[in-house]
Amino acid sequence: MEIKLKKRGLFIVIEGIDRSGKSTQCQKIYEYLIKKNEKIEQWKYPDRNGDIGKLIDNYLKNQSEKSDQAIHLLFSADRWEKNKLLQNKLESGINIVCDRYAFSGVAYSSAKGLDLEWCKSTDSGLISPDVVIYLDLDPKEAQNRSSYGEERYEKLTFQSQVSKQFDKLKDDLWKVIDSNNNNVESTFKEIQIKIDELLKKREEEKDLEIKK
Ligand code: TMP
Ligand code: MG
Repeated sequence: MEIKLKKRGLFIVIEGIDRSGKSTQCQKIYEYLIKKNEKIEQWKYPDRNGDIGKLIDNYLKNQSEKSDQAIHLLFSADRWEKNKLLQNKLESGINIVCDRYAFSGVAYSSAKGLDLEWCKSTDSGLISPDVVIYLDLDPKEAQNRSSYGEERYEKLTFQSQVSKQFDKLKDDLWKVIDSNNNNVESTFKEIQIKIDELLKKREEEKDLEIKK
């Protein structure tokens, strides 16, 4: 009998409109898993330091123009560029907490009027997350948060449209958390419950694997 100790890393994605508190919660999750002696890395899309990410960064800062389709494909290509690396990390037991993923790609591009199914198609085949934690925030509330309005998409009417598109993507994989109270700790408490649940499930799966 071969005993395979499969302990794949968790792939945790955080989504939400701009200024919904994703980066803060990613950091909290990172620290929480470190404390639990888990291997963990923080990822973020777009990866503004990469070749493709630099083009995206220029666009977001209004320093260049692109057609809606071309920028959508660049966001998608940015994810495909790192898909294999992501897979290797997860398979080697590293947990990944990721600030935005393909769901942002679909919500933002379709909010401009591009066909939803076409937007989804370019990310089809990418690694699926174990959970999508969605920080639900009223776009009017987001407007009051610091540095709002610096980048291309940070406008109330557009963010409201993005929020509606996100609503269309929600499924069983999503854990939606109301973030309107702007309370970092209470938001994290809800996330923690979900993460504990996923860690427990993974342990149980590992036990099953040993007994087989
Ligand atoms: P950031 O604010 O999290 O750095 O993300 C940059 C902006 O790009 C943000 O307004 C969301 C948007 N975006 C897309 O339009 N498509 C995508 O695929 C991703 C990942 C982000
Ligand atoms: Mg932003």
